[in-house]
Amino acid sequence: MYVLGIESSCDECSAAIVENGSKIISNVVKSQISIHRPYDGVVPEIASRTHTEWIIPVVEKALEDAGLEKADIDGVAVTSRPGLVGSLLVGLSFAKGFSYSLGVPLIAVDHIKAHIYAPHLEQEIEYPYLGLIVSGGHTIIARVNSFDEMEVLGTTIDDACGEAFDKVAKHYGLGYPGGVAVDRLARKGRSDAFNFPDPSLHKGEHRYDVSYSGLKTAVINQLDQFRATKDKAGDEDIAASFEKAAIDLLLKRVGRAVEDTGLRRLIAGGGVAANTYLREQLAGRDDIEVYTPSLKLCTDNGAMIAGLGYHYLARDERSPLNVNAFSRVDGFKKVYP
Ligand code: KG4
Ligand code: ZN
Repeated sequence: MYVLGIESSCDECSAAIVENGSKIISNVVKSQISIHRPYDGVVPEIASRTHTEWIIPVVEKALEDAGLEKADIDGVAVTSRPGLVGSLLVGLSFAKGFSYSLGVPLIAVDHIKAHIYAPHLEQEIEYPYLGLIVSGGHTIIARVNSFDEMEVLGTTIDDACGEAFDKVAKHYGLGYPGGVAVDRLARKGRSDAFNFPDPSLHKGEHRYDVSYSGLKTAVINQLDQFRATKDKAGDEDIAASFEKAAIDLLLKRVGRAVEDTGLRRLIAGGGVAANTYLREQLAGRDDIEVYTPSLKLCTDNGAMIAGLGYHYLARDERSPLNVNAFSRVDGFKKVYP
């Protein structure tokens, strides 16, 4: 079964064709980074207008790369949440029209579940496991029982991890996109140049939760003072110290979740899972099997949407043609006791 996957939740316009939920036949990802760079962040209206211009050529390229015709497509999967609604609507409306005209089923999928699914496109992974989803909008530690069923153990109580990378980078003018710029600079910096405190969310209901708003403010305020009064702190040192603090926070929660659940497999997904320090630290753990997708499948892409969508279609689930787009996640709310 060939599933066409459409992803347009933020600034990547992507279409992919995946066979039977596992074999990537084509995966075209067209990034809007250069368009949003002058603004140091994604401008929602520009993003959705750009998707409108790009979506058809991107799908045509995905078909061409796959050596397939439209008539070969058996189903269409599309991100319907979470994301920028204007951007989501472009992909969703396209997917509806495409599936309607071909008379093939449509399935709307959740972007976060798709990030968790991404490494399944590269190797076989048995359920259950721990899922760590770290992106620009979400920071989630979950027990994952199947492609569709997950229980959130921990989450951020304020900003997302990737958002903190993006904001620190923007404040110091380190480059855009922020996460990639911090990662690149951090490789040349001293991670012990500055120490930032771990937010005191250690116990009870917050045992697996993280908070990034305090860290972000500390990095911005303390280092501004430091720069004004002492030697100029190098950008590399700021990047390395911030990166270590931000990632160690996650690693600590993951360690607790491994200990408490007894789960010995972990999948890390989402844009921040591309971070060099995070990947090194996870790979260095010999008590758990760690699966991280290749860099291309960490950030937003249509292949993870098509791969996940296949499993719903295979069990005869379909979305109605009036399915809507939503900015927020569904079913990923942490339930506090
Ligand atoms: O999953 P993604 O592509 O889009 C969302 O669903 O949000 O994640 C984007 C986020 C951004 O915040 C970006 O700065 C961050 O992932 N990111 C990174 C790295 N590459 C991307 N953060 C840290 N290190 C990286 N190498
Ligand atoms: Zn994403």
